[in-house]
Amino acid sequence: MVGVRGRVRRRSSVNKDLPTGEVEVEAVELRVFASSRVPPFVVADPPQASEELRLKYRYLDLRRPKMQRHVRLRHEAALAVRNYLSRHGYLEIETPILANPTPEGARDFLVPSRMYHGRFYALPQSPQQFKQTLMVAGCDRYFQIVRCFRDEALRADRQLEFTQIDIETSFIDRDDFFGLNEGLMEALFGLVGRTVERPFPRLPYAEAMGKYGSDKPDLRMALEMRDLTEVGRKGASEVLKNAVAGGGEIKGLLVPGAGTVSRSRLDKLGETAKALGARGLVWIKKQDGWKSSLKTSEPDYESIWAALGGADGDLALVVADKKETALKALGEIRRTWPLEDARRRDRLAFCWITDFPLFEWSEEEGRFVSVHHPFTSPYEDDLPLLETSPGRVRAKAYDLVLNGTEVGGGSIRIHDMDVQRRVFKALGLTEEETREKFGYFLEALGYGAPPHGGIAHGFDRLVMFLAGEDSIREVIPFPKTTGALDLMTGSPSAVDPRQLDELGLKRKS
Ligand code: AMO
Repeated sequence: MVGVRGRVRRRSSVNKDLPTGEVEVEAVELRVFASSRVPPFVVADPPQASEELRLKYRYLDLRRPKMQRHVRLRHEAALAVRNYLSRHGYLEIETPILANPTPEGARDFLVPSRMYHGRFYALPQSPQQFKQTLMVAGCDRYFQIVRCFRDEALRADRQLEFTQIDIETSFIDRDDFFGLNEGLMEALFGLVGRTVERPFPRLPYAEAMGKYGSDKPDLRMALEMRDLTEVGRKGASEVLKNAVAGGGEIKGLLVPGAGTVSRSRLDKLGETAKALGARGLVWIKKQDGWKSSLKTSEPDYESIWAALGGADGDLALVVADKKETALKALGEIRRTWPLEDARRRDRLAFCWITDFPLFEWSEEEGRFVSVHHPFTSPYEDDLPLLETSPGRVRAKAYDLVLNGTEVGGGSIRIHDMDVQRRVFKALGLTEEETREKFGYFLEALGYGAPPHGGIAHGFDRLVMFLAGEDSIREVIPFPKTTGALDLMTGSPSAVDPRQLDELGLKRKS
């Protein structure tokens, strides 16, 4: 690290390729502030080093112009969020990091208490209960750019600690609230000169699953699934007929212009379908006659083609299986279909997914679990089903999806203590467990909670989109690896046995 004092003058041999190529400094004084070892990689874009090395020497990696841009972009995004929400009457209110367990579906990080041996704080998976108690407290419009902690498997869009834009509103009107959040996206993407098309399309969960086989569909692609169960039932193919007779359904996906796709690629798609539990994948092409992996009569091909709206040169992919399996298999093939057109690749395709089921059955736990979290309001019409048919209860929940990634999730909340009790019961919690885990919360609802609702957006995911990156690690200054390690500081690390002793803890191995 050096300092140079001197006179800036025009360069005699100009180099237009360099940002400073037109000037030079005539040095009169040179000072060495600090000497430097030879860095383990060249600090330049694009980086010529593995991600491990970059993370180990993150302070060098962050010197790269691109990373400096990301750091600035993150700052500007946070500022834009604060300005936008403050303008709309929202107050940023901090909530505790040493908290109680929050049921968001992941494992908690626990912090042992030194003062009360055997008792633990939990790092919040989200400030969900705090923000709801703020509504009871009369803080009608709350937001927070807040760190959340979830001990879950890591991926390109998941970290152990991540940042949410957390929002809650009393006397909420869902349509107005969607508008507020769409405006927030407009403000954020405006930072990088991107236009956001509003209003965002809304898709009920059941429709999203039926058309796209996913609750986070990538709407940059027009491809939609169709139901072919009736066509199969009436057709001549024994394979299709048997699948329907066995209680299955037939789903089809038409890929326009993909009739030239090779046999080896089709075989790979078949393997994808099988890996997701499907018995197989049928393909049909029409070009100078029919070609298909399904041997059946010409009228069968014709009727499938008609139901899918196929034309010469197209490709039809068909799965006959259990409904969920068929949707999942074709949904995955759709999701991973390459986006050939660069213009479509660059699009921002937002959508709201609404009306999720309130519960889903967990084979692992042998009980119903919340699809979102237990504070999500059921539809009033479905309340009687809470006790009789929990799997059919629809939730007033919504997710915000961008290009196939969930960037936000929220709901209208339960603000009635009795309904909240019934939901806990449907989740298999005993009176005692409810009191122990959520006693204070139920008590708070008992003092009159306004109707309220909210959302939390994944801040890291949004900045990732703003930066045009594929991984949130690129926009987090100090991320963990997918193996949950901080390669720079070496955490997690062993602790001094004395520290464990103070906490009343003993290592088992
Ligand atoms: P949810 O669990 O859907 O909702 O989280 C909201 C958003 O946070 C982001 N996100 C993550 N980002 C990075 N790493 C992770 N491990 C991670 N987990 C979640 C996603 C997600 O959409 N309390 C509710 C919100 C509410 O109901 O208001 C909640 O936390 O972008």
